[in-house]
Amino acid sequence: MKKLCAVDELAEGSAKAFDTPGGGIVLLLTVEGPRAWRNVCPHQGRSLDFAPGEFLFTPTGLLVCPHHGACFEPGSGACTDGPCQGSALTAVPVTVKDGHVWLAPQDGADRR
Ligand code: FES
Repeated sequence: MKKLCAVDELAEGSAKAFDTPGGGIVLLLTVEGPRAWRNVCPHQGRSLDFAPGEFLFTPTGLLVCPHHGACFEPGSGACTDGPCQGSALTAVPVTVKDGHVWLAPQDGADRR
């Protein structure tokens, strides 16, 4: 498994970007714990960061695609507003161990 970061480096209402063997991901902290999504908007396949590793959120905590304003629930990945409403981000399995977030091996990461 690949270590991404310490859990306490994450905060609700913000996100971190990582490159993985399967492509870029967005890592967020939700009330249910860390969640990761492909850094690909379902509308036009563009990245969700407006600058490398910089993401937009609504005051209510929705992740906003900077290109055309699609809004996503951080916990479910569902698009709740915008041009791809009803679609969803693609989940990337992560796990928490020893206070760190790890990319699960299913993502093509190193299994050592
Ligand atoms: S590419 Fe994300 S809303 Fe259009």
